[in-house]
Amino acid sequence: MVGLGAKALPLRSGQTGSTAHCGGQLKDELNKLEELFTVSTGTLKKISNHFVKELEKGLSVEGGNIPMNPTWCMAFPDGHETGTFIALDMGGTNLRVCQITLTEEKGRFEITQSKYRMPEDLKTGTADQLWNYIADCLQQFIADNHEEDQLSHIPVGFTFSYPATQDYIDHGVLQRWTKGFDIDGVEGKDVVPPFEAALAARGLRLKLTALVNDTTGTLIASAYTDTEVKIGCIFGTGCNAAYMENVGSIPKLAHMNLDPSLPMAINCEWGAFDNEHLVLPRTKYDIHIDETSPRPGQQSYEKMVAGYYLGEIMRLVLLDLHDNSKCGIFKDQDISELKKPYLLDAGFISRIEEDPFENLEETKSLFQDTLHITLTRAELEFVRRLAELIGTRAARLTACGIAAICNKKGWKTCHVGADGSLFTKSRYFKKRQAKALGEILDWGEGKGDAVDDPVMVLPAEDGSGVGAALIAALTIKRVKQGQVAGIRDAESMVKALGI
Ligand code: BGC
Repeated sequence: MVGLGAKALPLRSGQTGSTAHCGGQLKDELNKLEELFTVSTGTLKKISNHFVKELEKGLSVEGGNIPMNPTWCMAFPDGHETGTFIALDMGGTNLRVCQITLTEEKGRFEITQSKYRMPEDLKTGTADQLWNYIADCLQQFIADNHEEDQLSHIPVGFTFSYPATQDYIDHGVLQRWTKGFDIDGVEGKDVVPPFEAALAARGLRLKLTALVNDTTGTLIASAYTDTEVKIGCIFGTGCNAAYMENVGSIPKLAHMNLDPSLPMAINCEWGAFDNEHLVLPRTKYDIHIDETSPRPGQQSYEKMVAGYYLGEIMRLVLLDLHDNSKCGIFKDQDISELKKPYLLDAGFISRIEEDPFENLEETKSLFQDTLHITLTRAELEFVRRLAELIGTRAARLTACGIAAICNKKGWKTCHVGADGSLFTKSRYFKKRQAKALGEILDWGEGKGDAVDDPVMVLPAEDGSGVGAALIAALTIKRVKQGQVAGIRDAESMVKALGI
């Protein structure tokens, strides 16, 4: 159905609402944006083919844009892991502390958790503030949940969801901050010693056993309950993937003379794909986001697909049209709120897309509440279509990375464990991504609808909690078996944990 008095026009592919009221120059601008933001099957394939080469380059001695970090998580769980762990998850919005007990019953666990809000200014504060805040939250959690003396033997899995070079699983040198974090004095340094020092200063006798990326946690937690899972992905504030490689296919580890058949989880850090700007169809808005970000030239792919940036893309388009086009959008309105960088988040886009009303009244309220702008019917239809274009482009581009890992590994079928707000909260993301996967991987008719596809992207288990605990458990298992490659502090782990 279209609005009263409007002529029913055919909807474009991926379009869920009418743009029948949107005429004249506004319609012309929309047509230009359609072209700018639509990524064809051919382009997806081209991007994904280049992605495969870049994944390989990242594993090579010379390296490339995509870091392809070996994580020293060297096995999938078998479901018989047991023990009690503290999992710490430093996300963008919250710090979550969990106590997780992996029980005797295969694949089962018990969890107690608390969330602490990460103050916004911490993201651009000092390193000391960050480590002290984290240690304070841990101390609080322990005070709330424990008798201190029970804790001396609890191993910690710390989910640190930023690119880190790991020569060992209990160590990690931050390569660069992402997702708007910009704390001085952390990049280029091992994050574990200051973290442990902050714990020690509070007399907390916990032992960091594994520093974990959220994608590796997602991979391991999902594989714990579904043995077909081969890839773990995050489609949230940031975007990234991890998968299980074999050591023999990682030339940059050849000097270690490890058994080539050993598995090694790789944290791809694929957000850095195409930092050279060879294949991604960047618009002037993407370029602006990059140039004004704390780390220009970094995370090119992430800046087009991750939740942290999607609202900002929309804001930039709207501001550009208001300032530079004759289409008359938001004419005679006070647009001072729209001038505030990063005011809009990905949830803003989802809410527009999910407005159930024909007259888009929820979108109208959303703009009034958030931006203090009152939209005409034509403008409402325009922003609805723009939201679809931005959300669809992101979802389709993420399929390039998944398809690239599958093609690199020769996997025709597998499950992908996925987490993150775009994947779990946006109604359309999953379908759009599945459709694009089908186009890239040539599944043909009747596939690519996120139902029984050869490569199925499924909601993950809690990677940053259960996944981190499992990786700590797998590390302890290796220590017990004397397989200490990639474990820096096996001796002190044995002592501290009494294993
Ligand atoms: C980080 C990754 C992380 C991803 C999802 C990116 O910005 O670089 O380490 O996995 O966000 O949280």
